[in-house]
Amino acid sequence: MVEDLRLDSLEGVGPVTTRKLSDAGVHNVMDLIVRGPVEIAEITGMEKDTAEKIVNKARQYLVETGLLSRDFVKATEVYKRRQDIGKITTGTNCLDTLFDGGVETQALTEVYGEFGSGKTQFAHTLSVMVQKPKTEGGLDGGVLYIDTENTFRPERIVSIAQAHEMDPEKVLDRIIVARAYNSAHQTLILEEAGPVIEENNIKLIVVDSAVGLFRAEYLGRGTLSNRQQKLNHFVHMLSRIAETYNCAAIATNQVMASPDVFFGDPTRPIGGNVVAHTSTYRIYFKKSGKKRIARMVDSPHHPEEEVIFALGEAGVMDLEDAEKKTTKKTTKKVTKKEKESEPETAVESAELETVQAIEDADSDDLESIEE
Ligand code: GTP
Ligand code: MG
Repeated sequence: MVEDLRLDSLEGVGPVTTRKLSDAGVHNVMDLIVRGPVEIAEITGMEKDTAEKIVNKARQYLVETGLLSRDFVKATEVYKRRQDIGKITTGTNCLDTLFDGGVETQALTEVYGEFGSGKTQFAHTLSVMVQKPKTEGGLDGGVLYIDTENTFRPERIVSIAQAHEMDPEKVLDRIIVARAYNSAHQTLILEEAGPVIEENNIKLIVVDSAVGLFRAEYLGRGTLSNRQQKLNHFVHMLSRIAETYNCAAIATNQVMASPDVFFGDPTRPIGGNVVAHTSTYRIYFKKSGKKRIARMVDSPHHPEEEVIFALGEAGVMDLEDAEKKTTKKTTKKVTKKEKESEPETAVESAELETVQAIEDADSDDLESIEE
């Protein structure tokens, strides 16, 4: 498979062009499609016509080998291609219901929400679940985890794997972590990802967070359009990779706590419209005490609905399971509360408050989630 995708499999692409392309980070036939002719011309210094010819050849080649669908196809074929879409279970009943079975391949799913709403935990959980065999809701695939905020935690992977009765070492082994240090580096990682995806049978790409570095680097109104343009490029590439390689892509995006900084509405993701318009699925996470609410915001075929979930040892969890497991912990924390008359930190006091929330859990506040 990897052999078939070599650049010199294309008629008329000799050693010189191959070298020119690989110097520019284009390593296989898929990469040509992912980058597109305009970009290929830009990064290699080729004539635009030449670049177009090569990309068209690449497309033709992939169509012939059955890896890409033709330009004009019957709906039956579109339907067939959609049959190839894989779904990754979230490990919970509630979120699987929201996703109509699981997180889809050939699509970009944007998860947005405020800090601590569970975006990173969701990404960790999916990184484990995708490795499950197909019979158990996984895709028996590997993970490419692009970590831009240094929040990837192997310990969390271990505990999630254990909670799902999987061998933690094997699970860790199939997650390739790429730490991105700035937005240009983040883009470069994705540009170079083709061979990594092929060689490791990657079925899930996580970008956590997709927007953070762009936001940090492009401050102020004057740089907004430049930032959006760069972000646009990144997100489109991510989406094309998901389609081309038949893998799922998850991009997280934090909702700003102080709405005055970028966009007016605090419930809008900070990436603005760029991420939203490219994502196939958008899901919004919201805190409600210890519980979390997930809402499918716009999707071509899911109804807009909400579910309630929890965060715990197993990553994202069904509320019932989490409550069963927190009973013991709750007792512990209450003891601690009794010992120290006042919580030391804000975090601690928030924790105590959420313990209370769990104890008080009833359907009332579960319904008052609409703003
Ligand atoms: P930002 O990246 O800051 O925007 O937040 P996020 O949406 O990525 O939040 P994240 O997924 O990091 O969620 C953090 C929350 O997950 C914490 O407040 C905890 O409630 C929960 N959490 C994380 N790890 C554990 C764990 O090991 N056990 C339990 N019970 N909860 C955990
Ligand atoms: Mg996070």
